[in-house]
Amino acid sequence: MTTYPSGLTRREFEQELDRLEVVSRFPEMPSNLFDEGPHLVDTPLTPWGDEVRELAVDAYRRFIHGETWITGGGAREMEAEVISWMGGLMGAETPTGFLTAGGSESNMCAILTAKQLSGRRGGSVVFPDNGHYSLHKLCRMFDLDAIVVPAPEGRLHEVDPAAIEAAIRPDTIAIIATAGTWAFGSVDPIAEIGEIAERHGLYLHVDGAFGGYILPFLERSGYDPTIPVWDFRVPGVHSISADLHKNGMAPPPAGSLTFRDEALLAAAKEICPPNGTMSGTRGVGPIAGAWAMVRLLGQAGYEAVSLASMAMRDELNAGVERIEGLEIHPGSRINMSLIHSTTLDLRPTAEELRRRGWMFAARSVPAPVGMVLVPMPHNVGRIAPFLADLEDAVGLARPLDAESLSASGVSSYGF
Ligand SMILES: Cc1ncc(COP(=O)(O)O)c(C=O)c1O
Repeated sequence: MTTYPSGLTRREFEQELDRLEVVSRFPEMPSNLFDEGPHLVDTPLTPWGDEVRELAVDAYRRFIHGETWITGGGAREMEAEVISWMGGLMGAETPTGFLTAGGSESNMCAILTAKQLSGRRGGSVVFPDNGHYSLHKLCRMFDLDAIVVPAPEGRLHEVDPAAIEAAIRPDTIAIIATAGTWAFGSVDPIAEIGEIAERHGLYLHVDGAFGGYILPFLERSGYDPTIPVWDFRVPGVHSISADLHKNGMAPPPAGSLTFRDEALLAAAKEICPPNGTMSGTRGVGPIAGAWAMVRLLGQAGYEAVSLASMAMRDELNAGVERIEGLEIHPGSRINMSLIHSTTLDLRPTAEELRRRGWMFAARSVPAPVGMVLVPMPHNVGRIAPFLADLEDAVGLARPLDAESLSASGVSSYGF
């Protein structure tokens, strides 16, 4: 048995890895996880799934030692290919951009670009309060005021464009709208917001971290021709975040930021030289993994993945609606369901489901708890067992009262 310089034997090292996988709940993940990616396609619904997964892992492994400087030629080609393909599907004629570590970095780079273009040192950014917390984070980081526009009374997932316009200040440098909000799954009225941005000469960034890699395919597959236009077809849109490590099914970290044109990328590079990214050295493994998924799945593959995810979401929603006291929050256009109740305190239900092994996110809006489920192809065959457990666990819920409404919710990720 080999002993390494640290004194560990190979066996001890492998046991440690096994233990860490269990701590990370990897063994349970394939069947019980209802959360965002990464879920390399591996399901009977996609006959090519296993082979695609192996090839993506192989691409990742072959570029595992790659960096984006001296040996970055391949990475530059791969990321250009992903951006140009997806940018085209999102309606840009001359898309440019780069791959990032995920939605947070993409949103940061977009707003840094807006700041660079504005020539201001400080300023403000306007966004609806359904925006992801990374928007608050970037405002704090870049010394920008976050002007958060509340949802219309009683319609948490909706956005009133007039309220967005009214919130604009003389020092506003950008508006951010979301296509595929966490956790409503809704799409903001981006056509209307685009007109407002154009009228005020403002940068408009769309956070499509969640929706970016599913909305174009739901539209093209005919699943939902009524999805409001949210991408570069809206003339006011400057940039879009779209995460490959969510609905793009790629291994993390893999996000993307796409600009409408070269001039915007040039501004990004001015503020974040030399590439426009926050980081300097980037690992090429994730870029290669993401590129592999895009090259192997293409439009037809992503349509199949999207339809599979939505079939499960629809089955889940129908089952939840049949359980007395439970509701699906309205507004979702993607594979995201927010389960809540207006009569029951579902905190004991959520805890019981987690005790039974189900992995999902939760949030305290609507109070006291909303359970957020993101069905993806690996969840095939798991909706009915989940619904059976949910029906059981609803029995533990207490009637909703003032105390439960003011109490804190369950933890977001169950740890
Ligand atoms: C809408 C939205 N934007 C941004 C992010 C941040 O993405 P990441 O965690 O990859 O940085 C998320 C993550 O869930 C998201 O849902």
